[in-house]
Amino acid sequence: MIIGVPKEIKPQENRVALLPAGVLELKKHGHTVLVETNAGLGSGFPDETYEKVGATIIDTADEVWNKAEMIMKVKEPIAVEYPRMRDGQIVFTYFHFAASEELTRAVMDSGIVAIAYETVEKADHSLPLLIPMSEVAGRMAVQEGAKYLEKAQGGRGILLGGIPGVRPANVLVLGGGIVGVNSAKIAAGMGANVTIMDINVARLRHLDDYMARNVTTLTSSEHMIREVLPQYDLVIGAVLIHGAKAPRLITRDMLKIMKPGSVIVDVAIDQGGCIETAHATTHDDPIYVIDDVIHYCVANMPGAVPFTSTLGLTNVTLPYAIQIANKGWQKAVAENHELERGLNIVNGEIVYADVANAFDLGWKSVNEVLA
Ligand SMILES: NC(=O)c1ccc[n+]([C@@H]2O[C@H](COP(=O)([O-])OP(=O)(O)OC[C@H]3O[C@@H](n4cnc5c(N)ncnc54)[C@H](O)[C@@H]3O)[C@@H](O)[C@H]2O)c1
Repeated sequence: MIIGVPKEIKPQENRVALLPAGVLELKKHGHTVLVETNAGLGSGFPDETYEKVGATIIDTADEVWNKAEMIMKVKEPIAVEYPRMRDGQIVFTYFHFAASEELTRAVMDSGIVAIAYETVEKADHSLPLLIPMSEVAGRMAVQEGAKYLEKAQGGRGILLGGIPGVRPANVLVLGGGIVGVNSAKIAAGMGANVTIMDINVARLRHLDDYMARNVTTLTSSEHMIREVLPQYDLVIGAVLIHGAKAPRLITRDMLKIMKPGSVIVDVAIDQGGCIETAHATTHDDPIYVIDDVIHYCVANMPGAVPFTSTLGLTNVTLPYAIQIANKGWQKAVAENHELERGLNIVNGEIVYADVANAFDLGWKSVNEVLA
């Protein structure tokens, strides 16, 4: 199969869908890989690193899209890319269709086979192609929190880990899922006093068994949050209710009981945020202050560390890409239910119910589309 890797063109997107290591694997299976010039540069992989392992460097995005049977991307196609999508071409990337009717209709009109990273799903309902980005965001939340606690950044001037004779900072992590656990691990490793709150007691029991001794668990409720909030220097919002807006766990009036100069990092901002006063910010202008509490609410945190994020993403996408390339999409999804869950739009028809429901459009099963 001919696989094409265009350069990402969304503002501030430096990730790339395939690394030289991935090119090598695809070449071993007999495939051809076309990489748009400078596609890997933002992640630290110049053209030579791709050429060395047998990729063909192509000058323009148009040519990559024109020649490739499967396009591998990171972000959803944007308007200038719509006309490049070709009938029958496979596009394997994050689409997040439910967030854009315009994109959904453009992809339906194009006739591509859209396989969305975000809906590839394992039997236990976990989403393997989203997990690495949650890991990045969870770990980064502590790094950013520690930075904004510094006095020069407007914070209260407390060192996360303290020193001998001086107490460390207190860190509250709301939600003990992938983001929360990664935040707690890093904060605990830096020596902070960490509390994880979750509504799932079985989850807390599990965390209690393996987290470090400076991590405590608490059942999450409005009453408990109100009671403990004044103690914390850094609060990390990491809750998720699948398919729904994040619950508002810290309301505006609660900011007044927090310490002046404390920091909230609301990682759940991409689902609307779990802090009432949170609104999405960008890496260029990441924070704002309300009631003396610094809010960091960047919606695409992994974008700040493209080297790590690209490696994390491509580690998990490559095995699926190889299956699609080796077998063709129809055989690949027939033999792998995880990958079948990734199919969103095929031959102009929506095949994923949640996408259709988001815009009151109809949907069909893959078999109906192919019949
Ligand atoms: N900003 C970013 O760049 C970025 C990057 C990755 C993920 N995220 C977001 O981070 C959020 C968390 O993702 P995740 O992968 O950790 O999800 P997850 O499903 O692994 O974990 C969510 C946890 O929240 C808990 N929860 C639900 N309601 C709660 C409540 N009322 N109180 C306390 N806990 C509650 C759940 O029990 C679960 O353990 C999601 O909104 C995700 O989209 C943001």
